[in-house]
Amino acid sequence: MTAIHQHDDLADTIPTSPAVIAQTFATPVARIARPYAEIINGQLAELVLAKADTTGNQYTYKTETLSDLMQWDNPTVEALSAWVLQIAKQFVQTLGRQQRPDLPDFEVVVGSSWASIYRTGDQHEAHFHPNTALTAIYYVQAPDACELDLIDPRAHVDYYDPGITIAGEGSRVRLRCRPGELLLFPGWVKHAVPEFTGDGLRISISWNLGYKIT
Ligand SMILES: [Fe+2]
Repeated sequence: MTAIHQHDDLADTIPTSPAVIAQTFATPVARIARPYAEIINGQLAELVLAKADTTGNQYTYKTETLSDLMQWDNPTVEALSAWVLQIAKQFVQTLGRQQRPDLPDFEVVVGSSWASIYRTGDQHEAHFHPNTALTAIYYVQAPDACELDLIDPRAHVDYYDPGITIAGEGSRVRLRCRPGELLLFPGWVKHAVPEFTGDGLRISISWNLGYKIT
C-alpha cells in the first residue's frame, strides 16, 4: 500500500508531456512534369500505336509493345528516355544520401522498357515489377486523368482484420496523373490500373530501372 501511495503522489507532481507518434516506413513517389510535353506526346502516341500494330501483344486486358523501346531508334523516344534517367538519378541521389551520406557514384540504367495502350474497359490488376530498383511511368495520352492505384506494400497487413485501422492498413492510394507527367516509385510497390472508362486511348510508357555502381 505504501508503494501505491508513493506512486500516486508522484503522478500528481510530475508534469505529463504529449506522446510522440512517428509515422514510419514512408514510401517515396515522385511526380514530375515533362517540359514541353505537348510538343512530343502526339508523335509518341503515333509511334506507340504503329509499334503495337506491327509487333505488339494484344492481351485481354490491354495492349503492350515489345519490351524493346530502347531499340526503337527514334530521337524523341531517346530524348525522353535520357530525361527519365536524369530525373531518376536525381531522385535516387536525393533519397539515397539521406539513407547513406557516402552514397557511391552510380548510373541509372534501363532493364526493359515498353508502352501500354488501354482501350475502354481495359485495366491491369495489381502487380509489381520484379528485379527492378525503380519503376518509371510516363503518361503520353488520355482523354482525362490517367488513374493508377498504389497498393499498401507493407508485409502482413492483411493477416487479421481487427475492424479498426490505425495506419491505413491494406489501403490504396489513387493517383490521377495528366499526360506529360512522369511517375517514379520503388519497383517493389504494387500498383494497378483501374478500369479505363474514358473514350479514346490511354497510352503510357514504362521503364524498369536499375543501378550500376561506378
Ligand atoms: Fe506496372
